[in-house]
Amino acid sequence: MSTTAIQLPSRGLLGFYDTTLGKKLVMALTGMVMVGFVVGHMAGNLQIFLGAEAFNKYADMLHSAKGLLYGARAVLLVSVGLHILSAVQLALIAKRARPQNYVKLTSTTSTYASRTMYWSGPILAVFIVYHLLHFTVGAVHPTTPFPGHVQAYQNVVTGFQSVPVALFYIFAMGLLCLHLYHGVWSMLQSLGLAHPQYTPLFKKFAAGLSFVVAIGFSAVPISVLLGIVQ
Ligand code: HEM
Repeated sequence: MSTTAIQLPSRGLLGFYDTTLGKKLVMALTGMVMVGFVVGHMAGNLQIFLGAEAFNKYADMLHSAKGLLYGARAVLLVSVGLHILSAVQLALIAKRARPQNYVKLTSTTSTYASRTMYWSGPILAVFIVYHLLHFTVGAVHPTTPFPGHVQAYQNVVTGFQSVPVALFYIFAMGLLCLHLYHGVWSMLQSLGLAHPQYTPLFKKFAAGLSFVVAIGFSAVPISVLLGIVQ
């Protein structure tokens, strides 16, 4: 008798995660959590245009709900961890499946954004660590006068008055735009929502969302650089 019968995962959720589909689903679901956070964070940041008092009050309000804050931090941390783990594992699977590269293949189906996922992702991870050290911990710039939320407005203004810092944030938001564009689009596919009829609509949605997020975030350092927020 043949021994090539398909092995169904016998370890429940962990067994499902062992499959490529399982990893793609984990990437999609954790990506969805992060998209939700990023949209909320961007909208919250725009309150800086309401002035110092409103922005600091908003930051204070977020920090005073301790249960919610630590719950959200835990969910976000687990999501980032699982997202990176499944991305690395999927990349290794794809590498193993690829024929030996004695012929240079040029992809016709992958977009520029999809090819950038594996370098934009790690740079964004570095950005997030730097960003936390900058505003939350206050460890990387002695010019962050009030690390943490107490004087969030003053921290943001002082931070972006440094041109290299502001430019790095704007550059990272450009990468975020590319990463989100392909990520949102892949997420919709992994969730089984891809249908030829709706493909153009989904692509427009992914492009619109990533563009709005990148512009919304970049508006803050740009406005500080231009002296609109001071
Ligand atoms: C121009 C863009 C951005 C600005 C001006 C900004 C600003 C801030 C500020 C002021 C804080 C608050 C620190 C505090 O009060 O403790 C913060 C926290 C944070 N930001 Fe951003 N941010 C930006 C982009 C991003 C992006 C793109 C991400 C993720 C992809 C991100 C992730 C976070 C995280 C995880 C925290 C910590 C939240 C916590 O306290 O648990 N930020 N950001």
